Amino acid sequence: MAVERTLSIIKPDAVAKNVIGEIYARFEKAGLKVIAARMIHLSRNDAEGFYAVHKTRPFFKDLVDFMITGPVMVTVLEGESAILKNRELMGATDPKKADKGTIRADFAQSIDANAVHGSDAPETAKVEIGYFFPEHQVYSR
Ligand code: PPS
Repeated sequence: MAVERTLSIIKPDAVAKNVIGEIYARFEKAGLKVIAARMIHLSRNDAEGFYAVHKTRPFFKDLVDFMITGPVMVTVLEGESAILKNRELMGATDPKKADKGTIRADFAQSIDANAVHGSDAPETAKVEIGYFFPEHQVYSR
């Protein structure tokens, strides 16, 4: 198993629900370390740039509109198989299909307001981390 980094975003719905700490506790219990973090209210431009890979998808506007409704918590997580581990903790995109005990099953309301984002592969993790954090603000421990 390799030590990886992944980008996690706690989305506006979960920030508004005041469950940042509960979500971070799940990461830490699973062996993932927070090695960078910032709270930011994304501009439309920020969100469109971050989700540029989805710009031709029918849900693109809804996704961007939702992501700018309030502040988000952007975090870099590090650990063994961090990308897959984080996605397992998150559960399926649609909370109705998410396994019991996952973050989305417990905290998400809909496919739009689905609590968290996590990188889906090493290449995307590298790009997504670089979108928010210069290397000198990532504190590998
Ligand atoms: S895919 O096909 O695997 O790339 O797509 P998926 O990972 O399921 O979804 C990509 C991101 O789009 C969001 N999404 C939506 N937002 C609003 N409305 C609808 N219908 C919708 N469907 C998907 C989904 O939450 C993903 O956001 P992130 O932030 O990457 O989790």
